[in-house]
Amino acid sequence: KKPVIAIVGATGAVGRECIKLFEERNFPLNDIKLFASSQSVGIKIPFNSDELSVQEITDQSLQDVDIAIFSAGSEVSKKYAPIAVSSGCVVIDNSSHWRMDDRCPLVIPEVNAHTLDNHRGIIANPNCSTIQLIVVLAPLHNIGKIKRIIVSTYQSVSGTGQKGINEIEKQTLQIFNLQQPEVTIYPHRIAFNCIPHIDSFLDNDYTKEEMKITNETKKIFDDPAIKVTATCVRVPVFYGHSESVNIEMENKITPQQARAILSQAPGVCVYDNPKENMYPTPLDATGEDLTFVGRIREDHSIDNGLNLWIVADNVRKGAALNAIQIAEHLVNNDLLTIDNPNLFL
Ligand code: A2P
Repeated sequence: KKPVIAIVGATGAVGRECIKLFEERNFPLNDIKLFASSQSVGIKIPFNSDELSVQEITDQSLQDVDIAIFSAGSEVSKKYAPIAVSSGCVVIDNSSHWRMDDRCPLVIPEVNAHTLDNHRGIIANPNCSTIQLIVVLAPLHNIGKIKRIIVSTYQSVSGTGQKGINEIEKQTLQIFNLQQPEVTIYPHRIAFNCIPHIDSFLDNDYTKEEMKITNETKKIFDDPAIKVTATCVRVPVFYGHSESVNIEMENKITPQQARAILSQAPGVCVYDNPKENMYPTPLDATGEDLTFVGRIREDHSIDNGLNLWIVADNVRKGAALNAIQIAEHLVNNDLLTIDNPNLFL
């Protein structure tokens, strides 16, 4: 039987991409229901040859739904995911709320789909920056055993959702019209600037975004000992996150070997020919499903080190696509049963 699908946060940047992907990938579904806040009631979104109306999410909304994809922020996930599971709906959550909960697998299908086998109803989608990092590093980790990762991110404004996109558009227009740009969403102007501050600061002076990469990597690799340190930077790019990555491994992998390993890796495209000015940029990755890697070279300052440059569409592989790949895996492997529906209540 084909599942009934719901998208919670259907009017947002990720929600809208999910709708597009369900259509593009011909996902086998019985019905698709769209939810957002009360302010979006009545908004119509095209799906195949239909127009779907957005409804307000309530306690009853997900009662007859088989799979719900949540992209409406942590508060909505915290409140509605347990209610959804209690009526037998499997939740795939894009927020950070459930990611580090031991009851919730944190899944990148190319890397750890096996953790879906005994899911308990809520499945967490990792942070966008974690997904593209790990999809590329997992095949190298399997062979070289990574000991330490140093990553600096260059994250686009779409990672903040539609409001981030609106902010840079407005500021850019204001600057070209010789007006004072208004700063509302970010702590500083983002147009023609870079801001080393994503999500809020913690007591250790890292941002939450930076600690998400560290903690989520340990959970996905099931390796609490792996060392990860991150600096996350918002850059004036619309779509696509980039990452400068340094890894130190137990066993040596040469750049040639890394290119060979990664060209076989699921979900990865090696785009690496410096002589031809070939390396991925966010524009290359926009609208694509694959995660791109280039600038692969040896780190001469340590024994077994590599440097890489990793780019992906943060709204697709970083969020919507990864969630839909999880849904596809659940459907294809008959994994929609929930043993204890009251676990999260
Ligand atoms: P709405 O448009 O009705 O506010 P983005 O990340 O692009 O900003 O999108 C956030 C998504 O989450 C939107 O679809 C938004 O709906 C939805 N959302 C935000 N807060 C709530 C809420 N309290 N209840 C339901 N949906 C919400």
